[in-house]
Amino acid sequence: MLEDVNLTEVSADHFAAEGWLVIDNFADPAISFALHELITARAHAGVLRKAGIGRQDEYKVEESRRGDWIEWVDPEMPEGSVSSLVEHIEKVRAFLNRTLFLGLVDFEMHFTMYPVGTHYERHSDRHRSGSTRRVSFVLYLNPDWKPGDGGELVIYPPGREQVSVEPLFGRLALFLSELEHEVLKTHIRRISTTGWMRERNTAL
Ligand code: OGA
Ligand code: MN
Repeated sequence: MLEDVNLTEVSADHFAAEGWLVIDNFADPAISFALHELITARAHAGVLRKAGIGRQDEYKVEESRRGDWIEWVDPEMPEGSVSSLVEHIEKVRAFLNRTLFLGLVDFEMHFTMYPVGTHYERHSDRHRSGSTRRVSFVLYLNPDWKPGDGGELVIYPPGREQVSVEPLFGRLALFLSELEHEVLKTHIRRISTTGWMRERNTAL
């Protein structure tokens, strides 16, 4: 089932031991290119919105802390690249459930664009109790990213050395949402899709 997604038992072991995992060539390059085009076009068309920090009443835009622009993805969007990505992510979700019993029931994701010079300060995606975000994932979509372009993801696993992930085209980074992480300042316009696999809301 996973023949078109680069996942093995080794990946599951790595994720279980470290809390993060990088999968290169996650999707067919044609899909990643199409997503890059789609997000760039939507950014130009003014569809993306400045992202904020906090939830509900506390939600506010603070560019000095978080500089990205986003659009929440409707999984029913007609574009084939979006449905392919949704299918791929579903396979990863099923894989994590099967191998690690994570109990991930669904996911949400947004298109993301960091303009030149922006970053996202160190944070956790599982803010406060009640968050159902369990696994964060980012698919990097810049075809020409090279060292020096910035925008690396840095993960801070407790009690271990920090991990720097280069945002290479077609690479999927997965990590436990509770882990602290940051996006270093980017020197190019940085395009990605970012999402969260969620567990059932047990507070209800
Ligand atoms: C986020 C985030 C990491 C990245 O959007 O919450 O931490 O590499 N993104 O884009
Ligand atoms: Mn985050």
